[in-house]
Amino acid sequence: MSTPTLKTRLPEVGTTIFTVMSQLAVQHDAVNLGQGFPDFPCDERLQALVTEAMRAGHNQYAPMSGVAGLREAIAQKTARLYGRAYDPGAEITVTAGATQAIMGAILACVHPGDEVIALEPCYDSYIPGVRLAGGVPVLVALNPGDYSVPWEKVRAAISPRTRLILLNSPHNPSGAVFSAADLDALEALVCDTRILLLADEVYEHIIFDGIAHQSLARRAALAERAFVISSFGKSFHTTGWKIGYCCAPPELTAEFRKVHQFMVFAVSSAVQHGIAAYLKDPAPYETLPAFYQWKRDRFRHGLAASRFKLLPCAGTFFQVVDYSAISDEPEEQFARRLTTDHGVAAIPVSAFYAQPLESKVVRFCFAKKEETLDRALERLVKA
Ligand SMILES: Cc1ncc(COP(=O)(O)O)c(C=O)c1O
Repeated sequence: MSTPTLKTRLPEVGTTIFTVMSQLAVQHDAVNLGQGFPDFPCDERLQALVTEAMRAGHNQYAPMSGVAGLREAIAQKTARLYGRAYDPGAEITVTAGATQAIMGAILACVHPGDEVIALEPCYDSYIPGVRLAGGVPVLVALNPGDYSVPWEKVRAAISPRTRLILLNSPHNPSGAVFSAADLDALEALVCDTRILLLADEVYEHIIFDGIAHQSLARRAALAERAFVISSFGKSFHTTGWKIGYCCAPPELTAEFRKVHQFMVFAVSSAVQHGIAAYLKDPAPYETLPAFYQWKRDRFRHGLAASRFKLLPCAGTFFQVVDYSAISDEPEEQFARRLTTDHGVAAIPVSAFYAQPLESKVVRFCFAKKEETLDRALERLVKA
């Protein structure tokens, strides 16, 4: 009898650093500021609306593209905030979190041999998604220090084979955000090309100091070639519910839905109904910037008394810090030692690069209760 052998489709993927650091945090009773999720509950009203939806019988398959009321609510929110009126029937699809939307969009438009430009550091699903589609990732490093986009380098990376550019603002892990000038630069780059865009905007409502989120939906010239993706997991403290969405013009949505249909078909019916009802009130996402800005400021203020150097944080619930005044260890080694010896887990920024730069930067997540942040700060000032 012969044993079947399996040739891996993702040879470079192993256990992620997020899992490794979370396990290490548990073993060493460390405060876990590694993985990016809140340690506080979501709104009880939202829980009640989802429960109500279940009791009302919304427990069978939802429509493939999403519950109509939720797509309508997403259309209204996007029109109100960014001025683009997406058609809920032909342009909005509800997905199993942003991760599935990202994979679906890549699989819908990238063919074997197509090039896809990604800006590093980036969320860890992008490159495996491109590889599963048979695409060729073309990597451009964001500027060190402020993680701004080197648009001239992006221009130089474009070739006749470029099919897609992956974008993310507010940006994980750096907390950098796009300005209107970034959208101008992007528009100038792609306007006369066949290049499509994927805008990962999951932190659209977590943006600070009065800055406006520069959604690609704001610009017709960009939106007409873009998959604009977001997630209620980030906006409503419900990362475990995995509900996201993708807005794209009808031709892109038609292809996106062909893939979506055979990846998941549809996502949780009751949760979609609950969120649709919750979205009638804009307050939960309108108050999010102030909610997280308070946490950012508390965390940054506490860290100011440490030897970590704070890098800018204009959005997301992540703070990146330079630790070169504390250690010259490589990032992963330092992050492990910070967990085992100092009792705080962080993520090395090298984990977000296929080709890591020589930097000494780790990422902390501040989507945590006040007492969790204080416990972490007490330890970090001693590092
Ligand atoms: C930039 C970015 N995109 C996408 C996701 C995934 O979102 P979801 O949990 O809705 O799949 C995350 C989650 O950490 C993220 O940081």
